[in-house]
Amino acid sequence: MMSNHNSMNNNNDPKIELHLHLEGGAPPKLIRQISKEKNIDISGIFSQDGHYIFRDFRQFLSVYEAATSVLTSPNDFYRLTKAVLEQSAQNGVIYTEAFLSPDFCGGSDMAAWRDHLAAIEEAATEARHEWGITMRGIVTCIRHFGPQKAKNAALCAAETANEFIRGFGMGGDETFGTQGNYSYSFDLAREAGLKLTTHAGEWGGAESIRQATEDLKVERLGHGVQVIEDLSLVKKIIEKDITLEVCPGSNVALSIFPNIKSHPIAKLREMGVKVTVSTDDPPFFHTTMCQEYERLTDAFNWEQDDFKELNKAAVSAAFCDDETKVRLLKELDTK
Ligand code: HPA
Ligand code: ZN
Repeated sequence: MMSNHNSMNNNNDPKIELHLHLEGGAPPKLIRQISKEKNIDISGIFSQDGHYIFRDFRQFLSVYEAATSVLTSPNDFYRLTKAVLEQSAQNGVIYTEAFLSPDFCGGSDMAAWRDHLAAIEEAATEARHEWGITMRGIVTCIRHFGPQKAKNAALCAAETANEFIRGFGMGGDETFGTQGNYSYSFDLAREAGLKLTTHAGEWGGAESIRQATEDLKVERLGHGVQVIEDLSLVKKIIEKDITLEVCPGSNVALSIFPNIKSHPIAKLREMGVKVTVSTDDPPFFHTTMCQEYERLTDAFNWEQDDFKELNKAAVSAAFCDDETKVRLLKELDTK
């Protein structure tokens, strides 16, 4: 690919990622391999050249769920976690917060969740030793599965909150119901000591962000970029010190913005909003952390110092303990 003078190779620059769906990081090859081993035919979700294929967000969610359906055992999640973290580490990611969904790990059954989680954590520990990448988990409910299922996910989160499981969040179809429908689950998670984030302002506009901050009282917003529609709300999220988990490549891939140049991340940053950069579901959206950085460099002339500032903001907004934060800040400065 062509690159201008600004887009130096940034593979080795240390990066902090706050918004990554674990299953959304699944290399298509791994999903095909596991489906073959289990004799499950999901060929319909792949294009001829082997990539995930979908037309729009709704179809993306159903392709995502079909791909995820072949992952049925703790060992499958061990393999998934290793594959995802290896990819991330190759892109210079030194810390990642991954969304983990009990709904996809044994249907939110507590015992099954514990088994899946143990396998994920084992893989994460190995990845730290092998590739120097640190992972923490944010348990997520799936919005379009409804508030009842979300309660089960929140119970799983509350029961397993520890050094590894740091937060609770919500993904899925943002146009399904209201954020407030899920307040019971978010209250439960908060009381268990978990930090909170929810997908808001990816599809649901400014109103969805208002609900997320008022009804769920989250400290971060997944995407949140549609806040740009309402300047008084921009002011409010700055006052509340809410950090945005911005995923520019995902937004462009799903046509929320026609191209990276028209993406509001730079404008929001100039207005004083704390923004961070993540991939969301990298193979689905044909992106990597390196590519995100390259596109931002090309579009907005961002340089190493800009990314360093973003990564420091990401550490500050991370859900991990302070000791880990201090180590990450050191790594950002020395690597
Ligand atoms: N948005 C919302 N929900 C999701 C996504 C996403 O990009 N990926 C997996 N679940
Ligand atoms: Zn997401």
